[in-house]
Amino acid sequence: MEINKLFPGVFRVDGRLATASIARGAKVYGEDLTDQGEVQYRMWNPYRSKLAAAIIKGLRTLSIRPGSSVLYLGASTGTTCSHVSDIVGEKGLVYCVEMAERSMRDLLKVCEKRGNMLPIHKDARDVDSYAGDVGIADAIYQDLSARDQDSILLLNARLLKKGGYAYVAIKSQSIDVAADPDKVYGRFLSNVSTMFCVEERIDLMPYDKLHLFVVLKKR
Ligand SMILES: C[S@@+](CC[C@H](N)C(=O)[O-])C[C@H]1O[C@@H](n2cnc3c(N)ncnc32)[C@H](O)[C@@H]1O
Repeated sequence: MEINKLFPGVFRVDGRLATASIARGAKVYGEDLTDQGEVQYRMWNPYRSKLAAAIIKGLRTLSIRPGSSVLYLGASTGTTCSHVSDIVGEKGLVYCVEMAERSMRDLLKVCEKRGNMLPIHKDARDVDSYAGDVGIADAIYQDLSARDQDSILLLNARLLKKGGYAYVAIKSQSIDVAADPDKVYGRFLSNVSTMFCVEERIDLMPYDKLHLFVVLKKR
C-alpha cells in the first residue's frame, strides 16, 4: 500500500484521498475503509465533499490540522465534518452547527461515535446562542445553501481568531439564481472584504459545478 501525507492528517492511500479514522470501523456515508497496521484510513470522496475536492484541486493552505478547533457551519449529516473530525483528532474539536432537524438526527449518530464533534442544533445566524460554547476557533468551515451566506460568515467571524482562516463553499444559485455566478462570487467577496482577505479561489470542477471554494484570512 502506498501512503503519502498531503497535509497533517490528510493522506493519499494508493492514489485516493483519505483521513485516518478516529472511530475505527464506523462509516458515515458508505466510504471505503482500509487498514494499515494500527491505522484505519477512510477514503474521502471528492464528489461528496467540497473540502476533498478543493484539496485534490490544489488547495495550498490547510490550517485545519491536528489539535485545531473548528467552527463548522452547515454540518448536514456529517460527511465532510467527519473527515474534519479525523484531521483535528482527539485533541481537536469540531463545533457542528446545523439547523435542519432531519440532518441533525443523522449528525447526532455520527457525533456519538466521535468525541471531538459537538453538535449545535441552531441557525448559524443566531451566533449569540452558541458563542459561549465555541469561544474562539482556529478555523471556520462554511458550506450553507443560504442567500445571506456572506452576512452569516461576517456574524460568525467574531468567533474566529485573528489571522485565522475561513474555508467557504459559495453557492451562487442559492444567493441569486438568475445572476452570472462570477458576479455573485465577486459580490460575496467584496461584502466580506472588511473582515477577510482572499487567499485562494478554487474551481471545484469536475467534482462540483455549483460552488466556488475560497480560502479567506481574517484581517
Ligand atoms: C450543502 S449542505 C452541507 C454539506 C456538508 N457541509 C458536507 O459537506 O457534508 C448545507 C447545510 O447547511 C444547512 N444550513 C443552511 N442554512 C443554515 C443556517 N442558517 N444555519 C445552520 N445550518 C444551515 C442546511 O440545513 C444543510 O444541511
